[in-house]
This record gives sequence, C-alpha cells and structure tokens, in this order.
Amino acid sequence: MRAVRIHEFGGVEKLRYEEVEEPKISFSTEAVVQLKAAALNRIDLLNRAGLTGMEVALPHILGADGAGIVVEIGAQVSNVKKGDAVCLFPPSGCGQCEFCLTDRDFMCVHLRVLGERLNGTYAEYVKVPARNCFPIPPELSFEEAAAFPLVFITVWRMLITNAQLKPGELVLILGIGGGVATAALQVAKQIGAHVIVTSGSDEKLDLAKNWGADHGINYRRSDFTKEARALTAKRGVDVVVDCVAGESWAKSLASLAKGGRLVTCGATAGADAQTDIRRIFWNHLKIFGSTLGSREEFCQLLSFMRASQIRPIIDQVFPLEETASAHRRLEEGKQFGKVVLQIGE
Ligand SMILES: NC(=O)c1ccc[n+]([C@@H]2O[C@H](COP(=O)([O-])OP(=O)(O)OC[C@H]3O[C@@H](n4cnc5c(N)ncnc54)[C@H](OP(=O)(O)O)[C@@H]3O)[C@@H](O)[C@H]2O)c1
Ligand SMILES: [Zn+2]
Repeated sequence: MRAVRIHEFGGVEKLRYEEVEEPKISFSTEAVVQLKAAALNRIDLLNRAGLTGMEVALPHILGADGAGIVVEIGAQVSNVKKGDAVCLFPPSGCGQCEFCLTDRDFMCVHLRVLGERLNGTYAEYVKVPARNCFPIPPELSFEEAAAFPLVFITVWRMLITNAQLKPGELVLILGIGGGVATAALQVAKQIGAHVIVTSGSDEKLDLAKNWGADHGINYRRSDFTKEARALTAKRGVDVVVDCVAGESWAKSLASLAKGGRLVTCGATAGADAQTDIRRIFWNHLKIFGSTLGSREEFCQLLSFMRASQIRPIIDQVFPLEETASAHRRLEEGKQFGKVVLQIGE
C-alpha cells in the first residue's frame, strides 16, 4: 500500500510517501480499514519531530484521525462488518487496568493513540481494535468523518463533561484558527452559549464570526483579558478554552468570572506558565485538564452530531502524497479548522 512514513525524526522533509506492507489482523478483535481520508492534528507535528518523549518504533506512520471502509475483521468482531463506512476513535488502552475496565482508556498508563505508539492513518490501510470503529454520522463525507474525532471528543469532554457548559453562558476560546478551537466554537454555539474568540489574524476572526462567534479579539493587538472584561461589563466569562497556555495562561485565569471554569488540553505556546494561586481561591475558579475522552462520550458526541447536523470545519484538503505541504500549512499557523488528507480515488 502507499503510506507516508518517517524513518527519522525531524522537519517536513522527513515525511516519505512510499510503498509499505499492508497491515494484517493479529488479534481476533481487530479490524482493517481502507482509509479514504485522514486528518492532521498538532500532535502529528510533535510526533514527526520526536518531541513527545515517547518511544516510537521507526519507520513509523503518523496520523490519529481517519475514516474509510472496513475490509477485514477478526473472528470475534461483531460491532462492524466488511463494507461498513466508519470513522475511528483514536485512543486505546491495555484493556486490563482500573481505567480501561471502566471505559477510561484515555487515562491508561499504557495509552496508545493512532499515529503515536501505533501506526497511524497517513496510509491506504490501518489496523485498529474493531471497537474503535464507529458509524459515520449521516451526511458526512469521508473527509469530514476523518476531521472530527480527535478534536471533537477532546472538546466534548472539556466543555460538556468537565465544564458542564450551559445555554446563555459566556465562553472565551483562544486561538480560533486551531482544530480544537473551531470544534469548541461549533459545540458552544450549538449549546446556546455566547462566544468570544481570539486570534492572531483578523481574517480568522472574520471567518469565526461567519461560523457564529459573537465577538473577536486580535491577541496581537490588544490584551484579551481587558477586552473580555469590557465586553462583559467587568464580570468576566464563565468558561475559557485555553489550549495555548504560555503567556496566555495568566490572562485566561484573569478573564474568568467568579466561579469560572478553565478547560485545557494543550500548551501550544509553552507549558511553563505562571499562575497566581490567589486568583484561583479568591475567585472560586475550577481548572479542568483532560486528554481525549471515553467511548461513552464519543457515542454522546455522535448522537449530538446526528441531532445538530454539525459538520467539522475543514480548512484545506491535500492528497496523501502532498502530506508535507499539509504539515507546512499547520506548522505556519495558516489554517482555520482542520487540514485533511484525501486517500485513494
Ligand atoms: N490533550 C488532548 O487530548 C489534545 C487533543 C487535541 C489537541 N491537543 C493540543 O491542543 C493544542 C491545539 O491543538 P490543535 O490541533 O487545535 O492545533 P492547531 O490546529 O495547530 O491550532 C493551534 C492554534 O493555536 C493558536 N495559537 C498559537 N499560538 C498562539 C498564541 N500565542 N496565542 C493564542 N493562540 C495561539 C493559533 O490560533 P490563531 O491562528 O487563530 O491565532 C493556532 O491556529 C495543541 O497544543 C495540541 O497538542 C491536545
Ligand atoms: Zn489500561
């Protein structure tokens, strides 16, 4: 099959489009999926550069998100059959620890995510645990079905399970160009929240308004805390979605109303941020950290997508052989929404 692999860690030039042996089922609980599309996530850039601190066997296929058609199933598989169109739930655990036994694979100490410690989706075929195959929400193309799982499951856990976002609440989402941020905008608007977004680009702020954002703040030109406070009559917002961190972190905490919640899943601009602890206890703040989500949450998300008819925001689609250009677009921060790879015809 054709796939994009890295043989060593480094820049985009390390991505090699080449012939690779097709994956074969090794356990009776697995399935092989012929991929029609894959999507990029920021973590792919870190995996490519070898910056996650994880041991990865090289050569390695990147890619956590994918959608396609089931072409082979193990003897014990009953949730899908050959010919089914599926999207992929990215994480899987050891299946035996206290977390895996309670549908919390995302907390497993042996957590394996597609494209990280497992060969991923930048390929014509991928082998996965069959229980990670889910029916594609109606009307979604393969590109859209590949674009939503990782960012939307992360956002679902952050906003719905953890922050328990309510209609009418005020939400501030940082760096709206990103995949997580655009997913958060879509979910928050559908819930009926009032959404303020930040971006380093006026063009992206305009795009966000077309997608329902109520206010946009350019973080390069102004202090988003001051603006968010001004927009809320000094009260502050109920929820901040901050996967940027760095210098934004202290400003995110300062943007919250009393009793506000901050949700975080990433630190694109730096993980070593300053915190004024007094702000947390004086203002009764809650900080929720999370990574991905459970299969139950993924099922809730699928129902929500069916009912709301939400489709993920796609920035640009590249053919698999142009994966390096797709990585460059994400690395340069040009995207608004998801960068997707089209695989096969
Ligand atoms: N733990 C998890 O489960 C999980 C899941 C998904 C993602 N993540 C993490 O979450 C982060 C976002 O992921 P993603 O896939 O959405 O990334 P992405 O698509 O590459 O988006 C990154 C966005 O961050 C914004 N940004 C960068 N520097 C900024 C700054 N100094 N201030 C404000 N915004 C800034 C940019 O927004 P503008 O272009 O609008 O300025 C950019 O579009 C990454 O760190 C990723 O590793 C974690
Ligand atoms: Zn486990």
